[in-house]
Amino acid sequence: MITHSDIRFPSPVSYGPLQLPSRYLLSPLAGYTNLAFRRIVRQIGGVGLATTDLVSANALVHLNEKTQRMIETHPEDRPFAVQIFGHAPAVMVEAARMLAARGTDTIDINMGCPVNRIASGGSGAGMMCNMAGTLSLVQAVVEAVRIPVSVKMRLGWDASQLTAPQFAREFEQIGVCAIAIHGRTREQGFGGSVDLRGIRAVVEAVEKIPIIGNGDVRTIGDAARMLIETGCHGVSIGRGALANPWIFRQLAQWEATGSYDPPGTFNDRLELLLRQFAYMIEQFGEQGGIVRFRKMAHWYLKSMRVRSGLRHRFQQAKTRPEIDAAIAAVIAAGPLEGTRDGLLPDMHIPVPSGPVERW
Ligand SMILES: Cc1cc2nc3c(=O)[nH]c(=O)nc-3n(C[C@H](O)[C@H](O)[C@H](O)COP(=O)(O)O)c2cc1C
Repeated sequence: MITHSDIRFPSPVSYGPLQLPSRYLLSPLAGYTNLAFRRIVRQIGGVGLATTDLVSANALVHLNEKTQRMIETHPEDRPFAVQIFGHAPAVMVEAARMLAARGTDTIDINMGCPVNRIASGGSGAGMMCNMAGTLSLVQAVVEAVRIPVSVKMRLGWDASQLTAPQFAREFEQIGVCAIAIHGRTREQGFGGSVDLRGIRAVVEAVEKIPIIGNGDVRTIGDAARMLIETGCHGVSIGRGALANPWIFRQLAQWEATGSYDPPGTFNDRLELLLRQFAYMIEQFGEQGGIVRFRKMAHWYLKSMRVRSGLRHRFQQAKTRPEIDAAIAAVIAAGPLEGTRDGLLPDMHIPVPSGPVERW
């Protein structure tokens, strides 16, 4: 087993001039890494950088109202990245300029999204099939703004085209500030396991810029393995943070001292659920907040070990009184396993259904 003393931690992670407060980043998760959740994980602590869900550059420049809401932020939501996707250089450049003018700290370009609707149009993971076009697009964005620009990609389109190291080398030359790499190919979707050697090849391909390893990090041990086996500078965590919003603080404590506090209890998680719900209502009003919160509530209730009938009741609730009644029932019932104020068994982390068509 890897122990704290086996690890020589790399120097702090910087995105260009922006030094991140920790090397543990929140990975973008469409539908989940909204402002309310980002505020929650930031309040708990240990987060180096949090990113919006992927945002269409085209919708941004057309001032689409839903997209404008996706880039809303808050003073406690810093440093703050917006992730954009698109394939038309002029549109990506205009979107990047708009974001820089709004005070966004850093822009991330999505090159990993496997969903057909996005990848087949040449955006997301589709960018990995077009080296020359992608390099000129990314270079145009980097040169258009003074804020740092990062890229998030997969290992390649499929096992026969592991192009990530080559992209990384070129990206560094054109001024990309950092690269987050999910250790799977597009073809893999979310199946199989993360290829740490593939991430290592990306780390070895660059000279100086930080590489952020990503994929399947659920525990301190997983993060330690990612750091040691890949040599990456930072670790980004998606689904593991939905299951355990304390993971960033645990990692920061572990890095500093070798030990860390346990994750929250049923009661702690209930408190976070209510707080996040309140933030969503604050931002979207009661109806909008209820609709948007359901997806996330599923993760809270699963991790709280709430029995399925009550989870279902929460998902069916459409009005504030129905939600309040569903919450009261959850509080009355308590966890199915474990206690209200003790450690709960870890929840199973789902793999998005359909290998590549849905996240
Ligand atoms: C529901 C869901 C939504 C996602 N949305 C995005 C996204 O908007 N942008 C992106 O770059 N990656 C997205 N991803 C990929 C994650 O950022 C991450 O690379 C992947 O889940 C592996 O990390 P994890 O095992 O820590 O979750 C998404 C993944 C899931 C499961």
